[in-house]
Amino acid sequence: MKKNILITGGAGFIGSHVVRLFVNKYPDYRIINLDCLTYAGNLENLRDVEHAPNYIFEKVDILDTNGLKQAFERHSVTDVIHLAAESHVDRSISDPLAFVKTNVIGTVNLLNAAKDFWKGADDRLFYHVSTDEVYGSLDHGGFFTESTAYDPQSPYSASKASSDHFVRAYANTYKLRTVISNCSNNYGPNQFPEKLIPLCIHNIRNNKPLPVYGKGENVRDWLYVVDHARAIDVVFHKGKIGETYNIGGFNEWKNIDIVRLLCQKMDEKLGRSAGTSANLITFVKDRAGHDLRYAIDASKIQRELGWEPSLQFEEGIGKTIDWYLANEDWLDHVTSGAYQQYYQAHYGK
Ligand code: NAD
Ligand code: TYD
Repeated sequence: MKKNILITGGAGFIGSHVVRLFVNKYPDYRIINLDCLTYAGNLENLRDVEHAPNYIFEKVDILDTNGLKQAFERHSVTDVIHLAAESHVDRSISDPLAFVKTNVIGTVNLLNAAKDFWKGADDRLFYHVSTDEVYGSLDHGGFFTESTAYDPQSPYSASKASSDHFVRAYANTYKLRTVISNCSNNYGPNQFPEKLIPLCIHNIRNNKPLPVYGKGENVRDWLYVVDHARAIDVVFHKGKIGETYNIGGFNEWKNIDIVRLLCQKMDEKLGRSAGTSANLITFVKDRAGHDLRYAIDASKIQRELGWEPSLQFEEGIGKTIDWYLANEDWLDHVTSGAYQQYYQAHYGK
């Protein structure tokens, strides 16, 4: 069946992998990438698909009610996959309101646009992409399941939890057909170097300090971004309406162990003697309210939809480092700000 799928946040890290997968795998679908290009939006991520006949870019802010309405009408949108968000916990600590605006009000704006345009049609889908951080912080035992009570601890996770609640409220109140997935930490190509793994790769390459918050004992559960995109494909096509699916790789690491692993692999790849990069590790003041541990129980999506990660962590980290080393231009454009001229230069508006 032909679909016109509006993917929000498609110029970002995860969104660009989702756009690429859908554009290449489903030539019958039209993929409308709607993104306002914040600091995290980078159209260089999509160079390889930007001329595909089934790909369209719309520079629109999800806070712009009229812009959304026009985009739905112009492209006869049949489905939404919503990834646009402010996504970095540290930024949410210094500017919580930006997160309320985009993640909460922007999501409600998008829900309204879909509800008003679809008018109760029974073959439409609003897919909301969310995070495991809505469940709060775990101690050393246990996993987040789909029935774990929400207990967000940072302004970022509070804003994402709120947006999840609004999606469920629209499903209940207006019978909007929705599905939600909550995923663990992603890593891989095209991640903005404010997040732990690309930041360390960038700093090791440039012999700069590797800031480890607190003692580096916090635990995250890491998934390769392409496996997340594959999971989104599966949930979009096979997920049950109204359901929630947790996505993760059963792959927990202490931050300090990740940083050490990156140092070791980068020493090998850069031909440095063993232990060189580890000298860059610098323990710094802890993040305020730093969640201790996230760990996803991803058995529901494995059991019910047949998805599982395709890459082991060591392989994924190796591919990730190789990508950043082979794409130094990408990192240089991001750190110099040159990537922000791409839209003007290529779309000429
Ligand atoms: P990102 O910060 O790399 O990209 C966000 C994208 O959204 C950018 O392209 C940005 O320009 C766009 N955007 C931001 N505000 C917008 C607005 N008001 N209007 C239109 N576009 C806007 O984020 P990411 O890491 O790719 O995360 C994507 C989604 O996945 C988010 O909803 C996030 O909460 C969720 N998520 C992320 C992770 C992770 O590890 N990164 C894990 C689980 C879930
Ligand atoms: P991050 O990549 O920001 O993702 P999130 O906060 O959503 O989990 O951080 C991953 C972990 O790494 C988190 O426990 C905070 C820690 N961290 C550092 O120790 N140093 C850093 O410079 C950054 C950005 C993160």
